[in-house]
Amino acid sequence: MKYVIFIWCLFLLFFWESKASNNEGLAPLIQNTDGRRIQMLDGHWKYMVDMYENGYYNYRKLPRIDGYFMDQKIQSPSDLLEYNFDDEQTLRVPGDWNTQDDKLFYYEGNIWYRRKFDVDKSANMRYFVYFGAVNYETHVYFNRVKLGVHEGGFTPFNFEVTDQVLKSGNSLILKVDNRRRPEGVPTDNTDWYNYGGITRSVKLIEVPETFIRDYHLVLDPSNCKLINGYVQLDGTQKQQNVHVVIPELKVDKVLRTDASGRADFSLSTKPQLWSPESPKLYRIIIRSESDEVQDQIGFRTIKAEGKKLILNGQEIFARGISIHEEAPFRSGRAWSEADAKVLIGLAKELNCNFVRLAHYPHNEAMVKEAERQGLLVWSEIPVYWTINWDNAATLANARNQLAEMIHRDKNRANIIIWSISNETPVSATRNLFLRTLIHDVKQLDSTRLVAMAMEVHSVDANTKTIGDPLADELDVLSFNQYVGWYDGLPDKCDRLNWTFTQNKPVFISEVGAGALQGLHGDANQRWTEEFQENLYIHNINMMKRMKGLAGVTPWILMDFRSPRRPLPGIQDGFNRKGLVSDQLIKKKAFFILQNWYNEIQSLNKK
Ligand code: GCU
Repeated sequence: MKYVIFIWCLFLLFFWESKASNNEGLAPLIQNTDGRRIQMLDGHWKYMVDMYENGYYNYRKLPRIDGYFMDQKIQSPSDLLEYNFDDEQTLRVPGDWNTQDDKLFYYEGNIWYRRKFDVDKSANMRYFVYFGAVNYETHVYFNRVKLGVHEGGFTPFNFEVTDQVLKSGNSLILKVDNRRRPEGVPTDNTDWYNYGGITRSVKLIEVPETFIRDYHLVLDPSNCKLINGYVQLDGTQKQQNVHVVIPELKVDKVLRTDASGRADFSLSTKPQLWSPESPKLYRIIIRSESDEVQDQIGFRTIKAEGKKLILNGQEIFARGISIHEEAPFRSGRAWSEADAKVLIGLAKELNCNFVRLAHYPHNEAMVKEAERQGLLVWSEIPVYWTINWDNAATLANARNQLAEMIHRDKNRANIIIWSISNETPVSATRNLFLRTLIHDVKQLDSTRLVAMAMEVHSVDANTKTIGDPLADELDVLSFNQYVGWYDGLPDKCDRLNWTFTQNKPVFISEVGAGALQGLHGDANQRWTEEFQENLYIHNINMMKRMKGLAGVTPWILMDFRSPRRPLPGIQDGFNRKGLVSDQLIKKKAFFILQNWYNEIQSLNKK
């Protein structure tokens, strides 16, 4: 009884306190910024390293009123001013700072960025500054006005600047702090490089006074002749006629938004369904009385039925690979369409139909390129390893990142799984924390599956299972297993059996081994390509014996940087579990996996 009361108190604490995030001043997110009138603010930004946060705090560690955000200039020779953006060096935006300057490679701290720009400002128009992502905590100032704060390095945020924007000489200043923190999301220990900076594009968005801020179109999960959705206007003219037009389907639905600017709708039409084999996208036009936005959207249904993964009514096996947002060849945070084409192109070469974008929401170019090339996606928030489960602000932060991830990509047909965490240790506070996130996914988007990468439990020496108490509350049974690498040697797979009590699709979200490309030797010699190849062979044979296996995303497509991987001459700061090196040279295991996927595909074709 005492225990139940304790749990309830914790639960209440969570719900009441979970509004305590560090985010401030954010405007509701604008959907599909690529479909808007935008001025790109990418390019070379002035920057200042500020190890002591001197631009923010005075010598008494009290916030300054005359900080670097004032972008002040010397007015007379006797003026005392100890900073000057004009004379500073620049950093490229988008781009992490670590790989742009050797002096910044290991830097974790604060950097101030400044961008000056003019605007062909029009009356009766509204202006927003939109950030694709900035790692990690960002304080934003515009023309000396503090707009607000955003926490989280992998999701978009925007602020309205209509009242501040000038025709010329606009000064946009960011204080970017990428210091890791135990209470953060992620926490201060990860197996990827903590690249800092403005890592994705920055845009100035121009919209009419009342504009189409958000919309969602999705095929009804139980009726593929019905598209459901909503349109949300933002502005004073909330009640308007809005057209939802799909020219190719001869759809032109007229809606009337209500007093809150929202209209829900259902369209009876029969779209060709999006699938990996035919990634069909439709041009969509949403037109209100004062605004218009266009998008490319696909339609499909996804569900878990017993142990089967069902896409468009058909059972599917997810032939996948895990990918980090590491730039091919040059390393650093990937961000561009070119980066996406290379990484997604490689996954296609592996004959994948699925990618796990780990462990945080990747850039939009990545998700859209996968959608264009017919790759299903698992998208995840960085609730990774040992988060501060009983910290209300940490929960609020995780919930916000989840909401931002789902908001940005809800119209992407290829995303079928929202993942709320990776390898988290079971505890009462952890369970509550993750239950809140599962609940949020169901609230925000009930048309996709919710999952997390769980850890394996041993029943006995030769039997493994999933004993996670949250497994029953998820849609797929996904877990990371490293039999043959962290757990024994590859031949251990031959003796292992897997048993699952949950009647759900089984999904191996990680499996793999390290190998230095070009290092050859005996199959039992770690770090050789032969060891990795042998491990894949044994694991694939084991997976073939696994009942209910519906998908796998081996760890990982390409070697990636991690401060946890120092082994000289082998790792040199890279996790070497890639099937290709950081220079994209294929290792032997690449072909083992590719062969298996070809085999599965030809079996399914029969
Ligand atoms: C973990 C983790 C990954 C990590 C991998 C590894 O399972 O989820 O982020 O990189 O194992 O150890 O290589």
